[in-house]
Amino acid sequence: MKGVILAGGMGTRLLPLTKVTNKHLLPVYDQPMITYPIRTLVNAGIEEVLLVTGGNSVGEFLRLLGNGREYGLGWLSYAYQDGAGGIADALKLAREYAEGEKIIVILGDNIIEGNIRAATEAFLNEERGAKIFVKEVENPREYGVAVCEGDQVVHIDEKPEHPRSNLAVIGIYMYDEHVFEIIERLQPSARGELEITDVNNAYIDRGEMSYEVLDGWWGDSGECVDALYRVSALVAETGANKMEL
Ligand code: G1P
Repeated sequence: MKGVILAGGMGTRLLPLTKVTNKHLLPVYDQPMITYPIRTLVNAGIEEVLLVTGGNSVGEFLRLLGNGREYGLGWLSYAYQDGAGGIADALKLAREYAEGEKIIVILGDNIIEGNIRAATEAFLNEERGAKIFVKEVENPREYGVAVCEGDQVVHIDEKPEHPRSNLAVIGIYMYDEHVFEIIERLQPSARGELEITDVNNAYIDRGEMSYEVLDGWWGDSGECVDALYRVSALVAETGANKMEL
């Protein structure tokens, strides 16, 4: 399975840190943010990755990551996202790259403590559909929130004012080849973006979504400056998914 890391956007929630620099190049403890999701994928057994980026300092990703070998990848490709059309819009750029295979997508600011190899292998054994991870949080309003009935997710509400659960949908998603047709049919949300939550709800409506509760801590380090600070402290304490160069 190929990996896709989405590392575009304007990083407005982290201004002024992102005025000249792409958010994903900012330090999380002692490593650039983008290196953690790479490590997560490498630890899950992924060897080929497409990095989609845009916004400030895009050339610096090539300078930092090169061909990806130093970071444990067999092959690293790059794609450029024009403008800020949302996560699902960025994912469109992976269509040719995926070549009709399943993909695992990770947001470039999502950092986890654990290893998702078992879930990745389980998804590879599933015939079709998609898989997401959820995690209990204290501030669900900031995220996509999963509404579960029994062992099924029945809907995801994107940043709801009145969350129906405290289960955040984290920024790691696995999709079969139909994801690109689903994106083609999406309409922009109220904030003018193609939402990954709408992609996930389309899989839920088809009855083809599975989910797992993530082990270990999870941090959306790009959510705000406090989150960046908190995730840096967690990495410092636990050494999670850090590159050992
Ligand atoms: C995005 C998704 C949201 C998800 C979050 C995880 O939000 O839209 O559903 O819970 O990532 O990090 P963003 O942080 O890009 O606003």
